[in-house]
Amino acid sequence: MTTPPFPTTRLRRLRGSAALRDLVRETEINVRDLIYPLFIVEGNHVQQEIGAMPGQYRWSVDLLPWEIEKIGAFDIPAVLLFGVLEPSSKDEIGSASWDDHGIVQEAIRTIKRAAPELVVITDVCLCEYTSHGHCGVVKDGRVLNDPTLELLARQAVSHARAGADIVAPSDMMDGRVATIRAALDRDGFADTPILAYAAKFASGFYGPFREAAASTPQFGDRRAYQMDPANAHEALREIELDIAEGADLIMVKPALAYLDIITRARARFDLPLVAYNVSGEYSMVKAAAANGWIDEQRIVLEILTAIKRAGADLIITYHAPEVAQWTVSSKQ
Ligand code: PBG
Repeated sequence: MTTPPFPTTRLRRLRGSAALRDLVRETEINVRDLIYPLFIVEGNHVQQEIGAMPGQYRWSVDLLPWEIEKIGAFDIPAVLLFGVLEPSSKDEIGSASWDDHGIVQEAIRTIKRAAPELVVITDVCLCEYTSHGHCGVVKDGRVLNDPTLELLARQAVSHARAGADIVAPSDMMDGRVATIRAALDRDGFADTPILAYAAKFASGFYGPFREAAASTPQFGDRRAYQMDPANAHEALREIELDIAEGADLIMVKPALAYLDIITRARARFDLPLVAYNVSGEYSMVKAAAANGWIDEQRIVLEILTAIKRAGADLIITYHAPEVAQWTVSSKQ
């Protein structure tokens, strides 16, 4: 295709009015494509704001129906659950994570009772449950891969048993998707899909989340299992392997600094592609907006549009409820 030169072609013609711009817009943010993360804590009557993530809270299970009703009214189709434990509930292997009456398991039951049609996705990882804060079993200062797999599988099965619609391993151990798939199938959950945090980078953008989930490693960092931010070919291999092991949906995380990975994954793989607009991306916007340095609504919609334009089908974002409010009011 050749575009005839100016003055025959004037690209500004289609930008002349809001109606024309609307007509030719290529990418649209739809609340039905957003997934909202929720932090669940022990105790009763707890709604605790997360310091580093203004507007986000830790909820005790008893208050969830109230929050879920709000999410349902916003038309948000899915939530992603994280458990946040007191230090006294943690141990070396994160055994609270596969307790059938653990906080995430109880949260799943409570949500499915309150809103059966809301898709409940659970983060499957050990870091929120281990005393050392790493995503796997630790021996001699190293995170062991193979002994971690069975523990992740136990946790995933326990979530499925409680009624989770999708389980989402975020640990970055090799072979976890296959192990979890086999365990789910063996225990009668052949129909429970796996959303693999397939290309998950060792990122500074998780900082605020670690405050939210109290999951900062007590020694070292996660670079021996999460990916090097410099590597794109390796990210595609990670995704390919997770698909080969049985992933039903794939994820790139974080989103904003990794749009190239999203675009390349979109071109190469046909599974539903999820991008995680992570805590640091959220908190930076909130901090700048609080200082009056940016127009928050405009920036958030621009960021989410960019993530979609790059190729994501679904976006996990802490902004989901505010986006729902903005998009409703813009149609009125
Ligand atoms: C658990 C997990 C993390 C996030 C999602 N699942 C933290 C980490 O890997 O350190 C980060 C989410 C966010 O920053 O919003 N492994």
